[in-house]
Amino acid sequence: MSTHELYVNPPSGAGREIPATGDARFSWEYDLADTGRERLLALYQKGKDKQWDGARRIDWDLEVDPYDPLGTPDEALALHGTRHWAKLTEKDRGELRRHYAAWNFSQFLHGEQGAMVCAARIVESAPDLDAKFYSATQTMDEARHAEIYGRFLHDKVGMLYPINDDLQTLLDDTLRDSRWDMPYLGMQVLIEGLALAAFGMIRDTTDKPLPKQILAYVMQDEARHVAFGRMALRDHYKQLTDAELREREEFVIEGCHLMRDRLRGVEVLENFGVPRKEAEEYSERSEFLHLFRKLLFSRIVPCVKDIGLWGERLQRAYLDMGVLDLGDSSLDLLMSQDEEIAERLDAERFAAEERARVAEVAEAVRDGAAAE
Ligand SMILES: [Fe+2]
Ligand SMILES: [Fe+2]
Repeated sequence: MSTHELYVNPPSGAGREIPATGDARFSWEYDLADTGRERLLALYQKGKDKQWDGARRIDWDLEVDPYDPLGTPDEALALHGTRHWAKLTEKDRGELRRHYAAWNFSQFLHGEQGAMVCAARIVESAPDLDAKFYSATQTMDEARHAEIYGRFLHDKVGMLYPINDDLQTLLDDTLRDSRWDMPYLGMQVLIEGLALAAFGMIRDTTDKPLPKQILAYVMQDEARHVAFGRMALRDHYKQLTDAELREREEFVIEGCHLMRDRLRGVEVLENFGVPRKEAEEYSERSEFLHLFRKLLFSRIVPCVKDIGLWGERLQRAYLDMGVLDLGDSSLDLLMSQDEEIAERLDAERFAAEERARVAEVAEAVRDGAAAE
């Protein structure tokens, strides 16, 4: 079925065109061992080794209740505790959960397409072949992610939301900029950092096995993407002037405000007849969403600090947002945990299959013995 039949609100147009800027670059140096960038080559190797196929690794036979795809508790819904909540029937509440899940995963889906386009842009614009090679593996990773989220929404939720206007703006700004580091900063650091935190919170709280598998496996790949962005930017930003660094920091501050204040799913509440202004107040007031919004920065802040964008203005902005202390958390630890969680999930699933197989054999042996 065409996705356009599943959009709750029609997207503006069949697609979107953003004029390309910046140069496509070739390199005639093919001896990768000679660049002295072993860590980047190791990441490229890992990118090749760790490819997987969502059509096989994910158990798509698992059933999903479209009216509660993630097992979301009442308190997590912005309408909870407001004058509207009491008026909602059980059926309405199920519908509300479905819309929120559709909104969330739709933003993930559009974001993954954005990540694919940005990774392809890096293939085109990065000056060195090793960065191009690595980024080609990431382009494939992001394609697989978009495929998986699209399938989940089509087959299991049956509903999609168009891209949020502010997410689109951030993507546009990232792709319009001709400086080669901007796709890294806008996509690998800001948008992916935000997405990763949101994936993690759902992965760790949902009791539904299918979305858990999807998120855990996607996050396993994302750890490589963040590592690549950090590696490239840390080196580059060491050579920039103060003025150039301040420009990047402004971009980060603006992007962070945009994501914190505008990516709240107000579109969903509007579809339930709540006026925009009121909907914004609800999501501002909800204690649960407050915590959620703070945690959304748990991957961005330490990354920004790590790549050397840690000027006074940026620190002040993070202080005002109440997220400055997140800069001290260890990204390496978070990412090795992401990898472990995915591997453990594989091991558990494999063990469960093995137990089922052994039980089947034992039963067959028993039946055979009884028949003798
Ligand atoms: Fe991705
Ligand atoms: Fe990614």
